Amino acid sequence: MSLKFEQRVRSRMLGAFAAAALFVSTGFVESTPAYAKTDAQPAVLTASAVAVADKYAADTAEQIFKQGGNAVDAAVAIAFTLAVTYPEAGNIGGGGFMTLYVDHRPYFLDYRERAPLTATKNMYLDDKGEVIKGMSLYGHRAVGVPGTVAGMWEAQKRFGKLKWKQVLAPSIKYAQDGFEVDDQLQERRDAASKEFAGKTNFDLYFGGMKQGAVFKQPDLAATLQRIADGGAKGFYEGQTAQLIAESMRGHGLITERDLKEYKAVWRQPILASWNGYRIITAPPPSSGGIGLVQLLKMKADLKDKFDNVPLDSAQYIHLVAEIEKRVFADRAQYLGDPDFYKVPVAQLTNDDYILKRAQEVNPDTPSDTKSVLPGLGTSMPEKAETTHYSVVDKWGNAVSNTYTINGYFGSGVVAEGTGIVLNDEMDDFSSKPGVANMFGVVGSDANAIAPRKRPLSSMTPTILTKDDKVAMVIGTPGGSRIFTSIFQVISNVYDFRMPLPEAVGATRFHHQLLPPNTIFQEPYHKLDPEVVKALEDKGYKFTMQDFNGDIQAIRIDDTTPEPMADPRGRGVARVIR
Ligand code: GLY
Repeated sequence: MSLKFEQRVRSRMLGAFAAAALFVSTGFVESTPAYAKTDAQPAVLTASAVAVADKYAADTAEQIFKQGGNAVDAAVAIAFTLAVTYPEAGNIGGGGFMTLYVDHRPYFLDYRERAPLTATKNMYLDDKGEVIKGMSLYGHRAVGVPGTVAGMWEAQKRFGKLKWKQVLAPSIKYAQDGFEVDDQLQERRDAASKEFAGKTNFDLYFGGMKQGAVFKQPDLAATLQRIADGGAKGFYEGQTAQLIAESMRGHGLITERDLKEYKAVWRQPILASWNGYRIITAPPPSSGGIGLVQLLKMKADLKDKFDNVPLDSAQYIHLVAEIEKRVFADRAQYLGDPDFYKVPVAQLTNDDYILKRAQEVNPDTPSDTKSVLPGLGTSMPEKAETTHYSVVDKWGNAVSNTYTINGYFGSGVVAEGTGIVLNDEMDDFSSKPGVANMFGVVGSDANAIAPRKRPLSSMTPTILTKDDKVAMVIGTPGGSRIFTSIFQVISNVYDFRMPLPEAVGATRFHHQLLPPNTIFQEPYHKLDPEVVKALEDKGYKFTMQDFNGDIQAIRIDDTTPEPMADPRGRGVARVIR
């Protein structure tokens, strides 16, 4: 691998788990003392570090660390910055998940969007009961009640060291004074402009964006200022809430009451032991943490079958696809919002259960898709464009944050007078059980639409610890590809012992039960044609996908953090002393 690859700064190119009960629900209550907001702790790492989606977010993190902020302050400041400079996925009009490791304790914050109060199970069906194409993807009716600002407020209030206004300041400056538009952003804007033409007000706000030119967002600057002045209320109440509700009137479902009632939730993260590491990852309403743990453990259970099988060989891809088939069968059947549906987290992450599933893997030929039933007793598409960042501070705290407006530029609706790009997260519900969403993933009643419910997600912000110290912080966008991508990078690092840059840059592939025996490969790193041919001879089909993730990861070797931004994106890895 090249030096550019190794030193990339700006690039283009569960054994033991904590759930004691059979069903893990909501309302995680931490009994630990309040976080000590002092600078008295000694540094345990040689530096702080970030892997983020663009250079502006890295500059923001540097500024926050230089002011004495910790990983949570930096993470919150990055979220607001990306809402300005990475508007295709960074957001205040969407939602997400934050996995934290603070003072040697794991936490998980769910600030996923919720369905509006007047949402109904069949809101995207016509009078014949058929799904109305595009209705959950474009325009006002696609929008879920945003959670990002509530999430950032909760996290910063609980663990931050700086003043709220300090963490908002960089984003306000980028919105007011502008930032230089990157060619990748311009490409994505152009594509979105075509997609939303005639359907939304997208061009009114983003029509003037030009690669290489400075782009200013005065409405968004004013909104961010209201949030800086009023905290979460600056978004969920008052002028901002009124403007959002006004832009919805006659078009969409969100009202001032929806906004006022929104709450982020602290939940018990999924905790699992794997390969000497503790995995701290996303619980429902994400499917990702369960999926990641099942993938890693099934692979470990099949050690004799994987032994000496080279990465990206036909046999490796076949075995991983067999595991993925089983994970996606469970995902489709059992996963949804734990506040509405008893998700059998403990069973799905139980070692004996995972071993039983691993034993169903056929080492020679693809298992018949129809025969791969959910293990405890159907699959879904999803939008791939989300964004992730990873942060560690010199005190050894870590934040892994993935947040989204679903597709690039969400629903294409900008709430008038606010500059806020609104999500199209309602598409992550099953509009009609058995019908695939935009990621091709099929859902069950567990993920049916209901007022206040959160749609099932694949976002998998993850932290690995060893001996109570952070060893890796990792995540990616990618819809249903999120946890299969993270699985591959973790496996590349710890099973194949690849240095982090190679592990992140290596080719990634994906299978998700449906379409049957279909392997998605990526243009960034095509698979060897001979490998493809050998797998086609076994009965697999291949499909090229435009996008296979934008991993942002930090590995910590003893006391030295090594961040890596995926060469597939415009991310930046930076060590900050
Ligand atoms: N909208 C992508 C996800 O939540 O996984």
